[in-house]
Amino acid sequence: MSPTTVSGPTAPPIAAAPLPSEAARPSARGGADGSAQSRSEASLPWANALGQLAGAVRILEYDEGLHEMLATPRREVNVAIPLRRDDGRIELFKGYRVQHNVSRGPGKGGLRFHPSVDVDEVRALAMLMTWKCAVVDIPYGGAKGGVGIDPLAYSQAELERVTRRYTSEIMPMIGPEQDIMAPDMGTNEQTMAWIMDTYSASQGYTIPAVVTGKPIALGGSLGRTTATSRGVVHVTRAALAQAGSDLAGATVAVQGFGKVGAHAADIFAAEGARVVAVSDQFGGLHNADGIDVARLLAHVEATGSVVGFDGADPIDNAALLALEVDVLVPAAVEGVLDAVTAPAVRARFVVEGANGPTTAEADAILASQGIVVVPDILANAGGVVVSYFEWAQANQAYRWTLSEIESRLAERMHTAFADVTDVAAQQGLTLRDAALVIGVRRVAEAHQIRGLYP
Ligand SMILES: NC(=O)c1ccc[n+]([C@@H]2O[C@H](COP(=O)([O-])OP(=O)(O)OC[C@H]3O[C@@H](n4cnc5c(N)ncnc54)[C@H](O)[C@@H]3O)[C@@H](O)[C@H]2O)c1
Repeated sequence: MSPTTVSGPTAPPIAAAPLPSEAARPSARGGADGSAQSRSEASLPWANALGQLAGAVRILEYDEGLHEMLATPRREVNVAIPLRRDDGRIELFKGYRVQHNVSRGPGKGGLRFHPSVDVDEVRALAMLMTWKCAVVDIPYGGAKGGVGIDPLAYSQAELERVTRRYTSEIMPMIGPEQDIMAPDMGTNEQTMAWIMDTYSASQGYTIPAVVTGKPIALGGSLGRTTATSRGVVHVTRAALAQAGSDLAGATVAVQGFGKVGAHAADIFAAEGARVVAVSDQFGGLHNADGIDVARLLAHVEATGSVVGFDGADPIDNAALLALEVDVLVPAAVEGVLDAVTAPAVRARFVVEGANGPTTAEADAILASQGIVVVPDILANAGGVVVSYFEWAQANQAYRWTLSEIESRLAERMHTAFADVTDVAAQQGLTLRDAALVIGVRRVAEAHQIRGLYP
């Protein structure tokens, strides 16, 4: 079927059917994920992701078959990764790669190294990537990978062996036209360099487009390191402006001081906002007059943590989430805003730097308190946008300038923000539901236009 034969620019005709009232409603084969798992058995991130999809499907009035198609990952692999430790002992890790949907293009998504990684978490993150790529309208599906390892407990040489073995185990399903990895929690540009090298060695020539978030020396994009954080700041500025406020002078608290949180704090401060609190997994800092972020970055570089910085008072993560600020940016792990922590939140805006930091219960609580949540699939999409630019540059074998990248990123983020706020206003939806409706509809459209094979 040619795309021109489909009528209308919006969703193609899809029969409405009685819709599931629960995320992972029972079906002939079990849950909406096609497994034998019910919602109560699913892990929190996966149940949350399925619940979000179910909400969008209900608004879009899609039928059960399409819902199941959108809920079910296209491909998943589980791998065992044996590691020879530096002292000669052998340890085994579990690794996963999930391609949730590839209707709009190759799978795209990060690789996470964290001890609590499991297949359900990776599924949830892969699904979020599908909607995120569609919301910012880049030609990718959604994927994610993970290895259940604590990277802080292993040497660089050990992490290199784990990364290369994981890459070789999932080799048949990755590639520049198939599935493109990027850094996530616990991984970085060095990890991407090892993956790129392992993949290239297996093919016999250098293939930079197999990963994004590479070092600049290997074809990484200018602006990629700060892209997620810069995107967070773009949408924060837009959200504040819509409420008649300025970013300059706004108070900000950032949970998580890693790749997303640290750069976000730095850019917020550079744009004139007052960063009053930050934290990492070891502890937090608070200074109502504003933290000197540049000096804090030097402290973290020297010590590995925000803890012990002399320009602020200690604060724990729970107290940070409850600070009275204009903007709260959760930029660490999933599920930190839940039924217990959400009632204490006093921010005007929650801008989700992390993936899945707010549970469904917390979403409802925050909405009832009039707190605007700018959802992850919009707020932290800057990273995948510049990953797309990096991939495009690798495919063109031509490097773009930093100003080209930053202006294109700003334009994508502002367009996506406007798309989401328009749908939210027209349909009376939260920003999360509006973003999901846009993402899910674009994926469903691509699926419908392509048709089913055979
Ligand atoms: N890196 C990216 O470009 C990118 C893009 C989109 C979304 N994300 C998401 O952002 C989040 C953070 O990713 P990252 O790349 O910055 O990871 P990272 O590993 O670089 O940093 C994570 C930070 O969170 C802190 N942290 C961990 N557990 C914590 C806890 N319980 N309480 C407080 N802080 C804690 C860590 O100490 C660290 O400072 C993840 O949800 C990730 O999926 C990352």
